[in-house]
Amino acid sequence: MSTELSKLSVLMCGTGEYTTGWTGAGASKSDKKVEVVGLTLFDLRRLGKVDHLRMVGVHGGKFPAIRKHLIENIGGAYKDMDVSFEEFPKDGKADPEAYKTAIDQMKPGDAAIIFTPDSTHYPIAIYAIERGIHVLLTKPATQKLADHIALIEAAKKHNVVCFVEYHKRFDPAYSDAKARAQTLGEFNFFNAWMSQPKSQLETFRAWAGKDSDISYYLSSHHIDICCWILQDIAIPTRVVASAATGIATSEPYNCVPQTEDTITLLVDWQSIKSQTHRGTGVYTASWTAPLKAGVHSAQQWYYMAEKGDITVDQAHRGYDITNDETGKIWYNPFYMKYSPSETGHFDGQRGYGYISIEKFVDAARSVNAGLAQPSEYDNHGLPTIANTVLTTAILNAGRISLDEKRPVAIKKEGGQWILQ
Ligand SMILES: NC(=O)c1ccc[n+]([C@@H]2O[C@H](COP(=O)([O-])OP(=O)(O)OC[C@H]3O[C@@H](n4cnc5c(N)ncnc54)[C@H](O)[C@@H]3O)[C@@H](O)[C@H]2O)c1
Repeated sequence: MSTELSKLSVLMCGTGEYTTGWTGAGASKSDKKVEVVGLTLFDLRRLGKVDHLRMVGVHGGKFPAIRKHLIENIGGAYKDMDVSFEEFPKDGKADPEAYKTAIDQMKPGDAAIIFTPDSTHYPIAIYAIERGIHVLLTKPATQKLADHIALIEAAKKHNVVCFVEYHKRFDPAYSDAKARAQTLGEFNFFNAWMSQPKSQLETFRAWAGKDSDISYYLSSHHIDICCWILQDIAIPTRVVASAATGIATSEPYNCVPQTEDTITLLVDWQSIKSQTHRGTGVYTASWTAPLKAGVHSAQQWYYMAEKGDITVDQAHRGYDITNDETGKIWYNPFYMKYSPSETGHFDGQRGYGYISIEKFVDAARSVNAGLAQPSEYDNHGLPTIANTVLTTAILNAGRISLDEKRPVAIKKEGGQWILQ
């Protein structure tokens, strides 16, 4: 397929941890020091699917350190890996609107992959979509339901592909579980737990509690999986949120006073086919989990339905390494595999973090070649902007419930989802 379709030109928006592995404090200390987006795109360029790569941040002065980091940790680790890209803002300048300059130099049919702070997703995505650029947006797509709906409408109007990077839909265990859940009848109960160690509060200090919360940051993943499983089974009708506090705001983290530690959303689900069947979803996320737990992200959930249940623990996959220095660690090469192939090339093309980006690149190229319509991807169960609207509705309702200390209803009015 890669030979007959034109190569895709891609702008990476955000130069942070997930894109380059480089954080303000130096190389990321998470288990993925070269992370995901840049590495995947450099490899897709090697394999002939993308060509020109651009990267935009706010502070152009960071680019020398980022390039050095990429040359050492990607160029130096894998054979034939070209890590070059065009930077914005140029000449070491600082400009929070440099994404506009970068997008203005692109042409319709090019693509943008957005991994920037949550509150900037909407303005960057809408600017790109309105210029005919295909968009892959990190989670949470937007913080507000109304913005999510505006992106659905804009993507339709400008006939572009817009996916949300909910990569857990490509995790083989989760996608198999989704298929099996369809055979278990009416939904009854879903309980998800996802956490990261307290040390992440140092990485997230710039925005934690100010720009976003841990529910948007982590629960988004499992809320999306639950919405995906339930897409033809039940709809969410009511959200109540509760939060634990006190760790993030104390020494040594000292996050802003409104920062929550652990957020739980309690969601009522109404069966689509049966008046009598209702279910409950409980989605908890924390960024104050213990240090040295052996996993970077704890992630597990339980699904119970009329005719059976499903239990998934994706933090412990039967693969652990013990090291005298660090103790026992559970790695997840099913997400991103960093060890090279026998020829010395990057070997992580089967990881679901990689697949999630490649599916978007393939979709944008197929649309550019006239082989597919963007709307077709809605029917394929992919995390398109249209297919992820209820995930944002629940997250947004959860935030309102915390801020206003009340339950929030999710309803459809005049064909559109609203919060009340
Ligand atoms: N899918 C996942 O598993 C996953 C993992 C980590 C982060 N994320 C998401 O990715 C986003 C960024 O996370 P990160 O960990 O890379 O954060 P980060 O803080 O390390 O990086 C954010 C980057 O965005 C840039 N930025 C901020 N405002 C900008 C603007 N106006 N224009 C262009 N760039 C701008 C900053 O310069 C920085 O490079 C968040 O929304 C987060 O939820 C997703």
